[in-house]
Amino acid sequence: MFEILDKKELAKNEVMYRIKAPHVAKKVQPGQFVIVRAFPTGERIPLTPANWDRDEGWIELMTFIRGKTTLRMANELKVGDSIMDIAGPLGNPTPMKKFGKILAIGLIAGIIEVYPIAKAWQKVGNDVTSIHVTPKAMAILKDEFEASVSRHIIEGFDVQPDWGMNDVSREVVRRATAKVKELLDSEHFDFVFIVGPAGGEKAVFNVVKEYGIPMEADLHSIMVDGTGMCGACRVTVGGEVKFSCIDGPGFDAYQVDWDELIHRTGFYAPMEKKAMEYYLKALKEDGGEQ
Ligand SMILES: Cc1cc2nc3c(=O)[nH]c(=O)nc-3n(C[C@H](O)[C@H](O)[C@H](O)COP(=O)(O)OP(=O)(O)OC[C@H]3O[C@@H](n4cnc5c(N)ncnc54)[C@H](O)[C@@H]3O)c2cc1C
Ligand code: FES
Repeated sequence: MFEILDKKELAKNEVMYRIKAPHVAKKVQPGQFVIVRAFPTGERIPLTPANWDRDEGWIELMTFIRGKTTLRMANELKVGDSIMDIAGPLGNPTPMKKFGKILAIGLIAGIIEVYPIAKAWQKVGNDVTSIHVTPKAMAILKDEFEASVSRHIIEGFDVQPDWGMNDVSREVVRRATAKVKELLDSEHFDFVFIVGPAGGEKAVFNVVKEYGIPMEADLHSIMVDGTGMCGACRVTVGGEVKFSCIDGPGFDAYQVDWDELIHRTGFYAPMEKKAMEYYLKALKEDGGEQ
């Protein structure tokens, strides 16, 4: 059991949990993630330590409330409670080498994963420009990026009252592709990195490849065990079967089979929608489930 030391609402639908987890804090590197099972009856989800303190033994996880598990965590967990299980650190650390001038892009909550990596890249001597494409109300980590990288750009927009998630996603793609094109037209970059939903990553990759710049993407495949055993996170990279959890999560964007990834990440959408409906119904009727 892992005690929640602090919990904060960072922005609309975004929550930070500082959690005592010395086994993760001791070893975690930028680019790695953990698999969290917050409740005995709950799903396992991958999250990224954004900050950690090796001596004090805590990590900070930040969640964008997307569906049942992240909403249930926000509703039911408070300071002093415990998270049932945290496995990790998992996945491969991002290579900490000198690329030169890096463009690091976070689409909506993807910025959480970009943060520790961009900070570490700048520290080893790269010149990092970060971009956060997001609804304005969900802009997070602004001060932290400004203190850590050469330049931080928030490409924010207002969400119209009649917009659903699909409209928000479309606007994120429109803004991200336009901003990246504008930057690549006016400046030289040696390397591009992106984290976000697969559809947005693919759209940005289609812009970047026109300039022939090396690009890496952290893939948001569905993960269950995080150890290469269940097969849930299977992706095709360079024509070979890979598992995001043990071979990634970062891959060469030029080698990823994007259409397969997009298809596989949407596979459970009807079940995820049902789970959310049942949870909201249970909340209304008896204050939630245990
Ligand atoms: C390596 C990695 C690191 C991540 N780090 C963060 C982070 O730091 N903060 C954050 O907010 N989000 C992060 N995510 C995404 C996060 O795991 C999903 O938002 C979360 O699982 C949603 O669960 P839910 O029950 O709230 O939503 P659901 O309604 O169950 O799902 C909503 C969407 O979330 C994604 N998702 C759902 N379950 C999983 C799963 N088991 N594995 C991967 N994706 C899933 C799918 O795209 C799905 O359509 C990360 C994903 C990966 C792969
Ligand atoms: S999450 Fe099971 S194989 Fe990667």
